[in-house]
Order: sequence, then structure tokens, then C-alpha cells
Amino acid sequence: MKELMIRNLPELPFDMSEALNQLRVNLGFCGDQVKAVMVTSSVPNEGKSFVAMQLWKQMAEVGTPTLLIDCDLRNSELRSKYGISSTEKLIGSAHYLAGRAELEDVLYQTNVPNGYILPVASAIANPTILLEGERFAKMVETCRKMFGYILIDTPPIGSVADALNIATHCDGTVLVVRSGSTPRKMVDNSVQLLKRTETPLLGIVLNRADMNSKSNLYYHRYYRSGYYYNHQGYGYGYGQQAKKNNKVK
Ligand SMILES: Nc1ncnc2c1ncn2[C@@H]1O[C@H](COP(=O)(O)OP(=O)(O)O)[C@@H](O)[C@H]1O
Ligand SMILES: [Mg+2]
Repeated sequence: MKELMIRNLPELPFDMSEALNQLRVNLGFCGDQVKAVMVTSSVPNEGKSFVAMQLWKQMAEVGTPTLLIDCDLRNSELRSKYGISSTEKLIGSAHYLAGRAELEDVLYQTNVPNGYILPVASAIANPTILLEGERFAKMVETCRKMFGYILIDTPPIGSVADALNIATHCDGTVLVVRSGSTPRKMVDNSVQLLKRTETPLLGIVLNRADMNSKSNLYYHRYYRSGYYYNHQGYGYGYGQQAKKNNKVK
């Protein structure tokens, strides 16, 4: 298998790492049939890629061969943000989906043991037709047989239909919500759109939760590490602010 290097994947503070660990464990409780999980959000910059990447790392670290498929074909930032490089010319999901490469040409093992990536090598303007095509379905099916877990990083639901197309090939969705930023209505709308895909919404991640804020005090009392279930019984909160207020060192 081809190889690529991730140069910029820093260790997270303990509380953030622990919140992600809880998310990983709880995804495990969803059962063996939940293998391909899409990570999405309503708008850009909520932390989809951050959560997908860190969750991928944690799954790999506990020994599960885990594949991260970058399906933000329009606007992927994984390569630049995480310093992803390869000694060979990098080719990725768009090449495979357009029929210009085979699956084995776009799957990479990484310097994270058990961590595999199917990257986006170059952005394309209109990937909808590719995501609706047979090759996408085949890609997910084949990868299911090869890996213990598949995480799919997607574009936001609010702007294009890509994520909803991708959801139909997954066993579940994790919706990332940027705390204090994404309007409730928008989150409701995303939940409704996801419901239409009939792919189960496995959980909501409340990202960058400010544990100093009054509305979070309730959770803070019970979960001082910055992790909590939200009021609907699913969801995990973590963020930089949580660390500041964290009494458990
Ligand atoms: N919990 C977090 N703590 C610190 N930085 C974060 C967190 N979540 C996201 N970020 C940062 O915020 C920016 C946007 O996140 P990103 O994952 O790229 O969003 P999206 O994929 O939803 O567009 C990135 O620079 C990312 O590193
Ligand atoms: Mg992203």
C-alpha cells in the first residue's frame, strides 16, 4: 500500500482527548453493524474535520484499522492543515470516483499505526455527480471489508447536497455543532435533512463548548472534564475553554 505522512497532528489536552475517547467508546456501543460513519455539520468551520481526524487517530491508536475518507471534494483542507504529504504524487478520491485511478491507488497507510487515509488530492467544483455514481457506492462497500472502521469527512449540510448523498451509503452520522455559534434552527434543519436520508443520527458533538458559560454550568457540575451528554441523551462536549475551567488536572 502507498504511504503518506501526517506531520501536523498534535496531541490534544487531556480533557479533549477524553471527550473524544468517550465518543469513540459510545460509537462502539452502536454495534458491529455500524462501521461506516459520516461526520458532518450544518455550516463550515464547526469542526467536522477536526473531530473526524482526531476520532480516526484514537480509533487507530486502540488498534482498530481505521480509514478516514476525505469527501469534502470541493474544499478539503486536511492536506494543508495537517501537513499531509507523500513522496509520490498524491492522488485521491476524485481520481478514483472519476475513473482515473483504482481504489488501491488512492488508499494510503500513514505514520499513525492502523490509520489509513483516502485523501482529496485536488479540489473539484461539482462532485455531486461523482458522489451519486456507482463508484462511490462500490468504494464504501469495498472499504467496509478492508477496515474495522470508516470515517467520512464531508462538506456542510447547509450549503450542498453532498453530505446527504454520502449519508445514504453510511451506517450512521455524527453531527458536529459549534457551541455558541450555530443557530439552533440551523441544527434542527440539519437533523431534519439527515432524517430524510434514513441513516441514523448516532450523536451530536457539541464542539468548542465554553464551560464557563452559565448555560453549561449544569453539565460542568457533573462532568468536570468537559465531556457531557446533551439534553437529548446524546452528544459530547469538549473544547479549549473546558480546559481553563477544568478542576480535575
Ligand atoms: N475543539 C476544538 N478545539 C480547537 N480547535 C478546533 C476545535 N474544533 C475545530 N477547531 C479548529 O477550528 C478550525 C475549523 O475546524 P474544521 O475542522 O476545519 O471545520 P470544518 O471541517 O467543519 O469546516 C480548524 O482550524 C480547527 O483546527
Ligand atoms: Mg472540513
